[in-house]
Amino acid sequence: MLQLRHAIICLLCGYLSKTTAFPSIPSNIDWKAGVELLGSFEWPKITLPTKRETAPNGSTILWVIQDTYEGSTFFDTFNFYTGADPTNGLVTFVDQQTAFNDGLASITSDNKVIMRGDNTTQLAYGVNRNSVRIASQAEYNMGLFILDLDMAPWGCGVWPAFWTLGSGTWPYNGEIDIIEGVHDNEHNQVTWHTAPGCNLTQNTNFTGTIVQTNGTDNLQCNAFINNNAGCGVTEWSQASYGPYFDEANGGVFAMNWDENGIAVWSFYRATVPLDITQGRPNPSNWGEPVAALSTQSCNITHYFANHSIVFDITFCGDWAGNSYATSGCPGTCEDILMDPANFVNASWIINSLSVYKQSWLDIVSTSSATRTHPIMNLKTCWIISTVIFLHLLVSL
Ligand SMILES: *[C@@H]1O[C@H](CO)[C@@H](O)[C@H](O)[C@H]1NC(C)=O
Ligand SMILES: *[C@@H]1O[C@H](CO)[C@@H](O)[C@H](O)[C@H]1NC(C)=O
Ligand SMILES: *[C@@H]1O[C@H](CO)[C@@H](O)[C@H](O)[C@H]1NC(C)=O
Ligand SMILES: *[C@@H]1O[C@H](CO)[C@@H](O)[C@H](O)[C@H]1NC(C)=O
Ligand SMILES: *[C@@H]1O[C@H](CO)[C@@H](O)[C@H](O)[C@H]1NC(C)=O
Ligand SMILES: *[C@@H]1O[C@H](CO)[C@@H](O)[C@H](O)[C@H]1NC(C)=O
Ligand SMILES: *[C@@H]1O[C@H](CO)[C@@H](O)[C@H](O)[C@H]1NC(C)=O
Ligand SMILES: *[C@@H]1O[C@H](CO)[C@@H](O)[C@H](O)[C@H]1NC(C)=O
Repeated sequence: MLQLRHAIICLLCGYLSKTTAFPSIPSNIDWKAGVELLGSFEWPKITLPTKRETAPNGSTILWVIQDTYEGSTFFDTFNFYTGADPTNGLVTFVDQQTAFNDGLASITSDNKVIMRGDNTTQLAYGVNRNSVRIASQAEYNMGLFILDLDMAPWGCGVWPAFWTLGSGTWPYNGEIDIIEGVHDNEHNQVTWHTAPGCNLTQNTNFTGTIVQTNGTDNLQCNAFINNNAGCGVTEWSQASYGPYFDEANGGVFAMNWDENGIAVWSFYRATVPLDITQGRPNPSNWGEPVAALSTQSCNITHYFANHSIVFDITFCGDWAGNSYATSGCPGTCEDILMDPANFVNASWIINSLSVYKQSWLDIVSTSSATRTHPIMNLKTCWIISTVIFLHLLVSL
């Protein structure tokens, strides 16, 4: 009986320490860093230190969930775009009804979200291939955007993108291309397109390579010059786009947008940090981003506002069409477009898209006086319960 009481008290202790753990986490010592090894992919596993971001005033930054897009409700909060492709692709974007009827949008029985280009219809030369482009109804100003996907589209003539787009007249509220590539490329390209006056900072700490124009790094994100190339950064990882990304069972892309900058990370499946899979993302644990736009040469709050989230798959057009001849793909882009068998890999398979917003802990990490650590709560609770136990024992 006493033991039972003791057990109940201890269970309660455990419960209390769990429920209070989240709001009382002080700073640099929480949540194990590390990576989850899900596959047997050949690239090395990364071990990273555990630390937390702190605001300039010393407050600890936490990311709390704002929106989750996944499974059967995924498409409820996105609109299907049916206008002409602004990038001149040989594509027709279909409406939601058509997309579902023709299998271009679907949810699998295990809750994965599928979007694909038409891979069943034989087309005559010069006819557009059907596909999808969707945009979130919600618009965001800053946030941490985390996309977990099993597959991103690729293949000759294929040009997919996962990106965010500012409201109003383009490009005045900015565009952030998080996943983008063409053909059977292996390296993802992150790109910003803005009004004039926003530049990449050359010596920023990121692992990717700045895309060049005429042999020099193109730092200007200005969409009105260089045929709207924007300022791009190519990822070093061969598994960040195309065949190897899909072979690795996909992975996670994360974009962190705050007033100090916009940074993108990518992780193929075997290197996805545990804090992401556990829904407690902590960007300060992820190492250097693959690409970053620093506030040092771009006033982030001025150039980026009211972004909706966009997925699309287009064919040929300004990038995939103009680069086709040098891509190593057979024939012409118009030729390749005719045969549906060329588009079997032109699919998004999405596990979830989560948007987190910043919140600050009132506890300043340098002041230990006000800390209440969960372990301390647990210890205190154990002491109290032991005292109660002994007291009851003595009173018998
Ligand atoms: C890059 O990282 C180094 C070492 O952490 C730091 O001293 C430097 O200020 C960083 N540079 C930029 C532009 O953030
Ligand atoms: C690159 O070279 C082309 C052809 O010489 C020129 O028209 C274009 O303005 C140049 N772009 C830049 C950014 O220098
Ligand atoms: C961006 O780069 C252009 C061209 O080098 C330069 O004229 C401009 O001052 C730069 N702006 C910022 C904010 O760095
Ligand atoms: C950045 O842009 C915002 C919004 O336009 C403006 O309020 C702020 O003064 C700008 N900051 C700097 C340093 O120019
Ligand atoms: C963002 O959207 C809000 C609400 O529609 C609007 O009031 C605001 O002017 C927009 N901001 C910009 C910079 O366009
Ligand atoms: C589709 O992907 C598979 C697996 O990587 C590959 O063998 C095949 O060649 C690809 N097909 C096309 C048309 O890209
Ligand atoms: C179309 O693509 C999907 C996704 O990759 C695949 O499951 C399906 O078998 C393909 N259809 C045909 C007819 O190849
Ligand atoms: C620290 O700054 C953030 C905003 O940057 C604010 O929300 C938070 O309350 C501040 N914390 C303290 C302890 O002043």
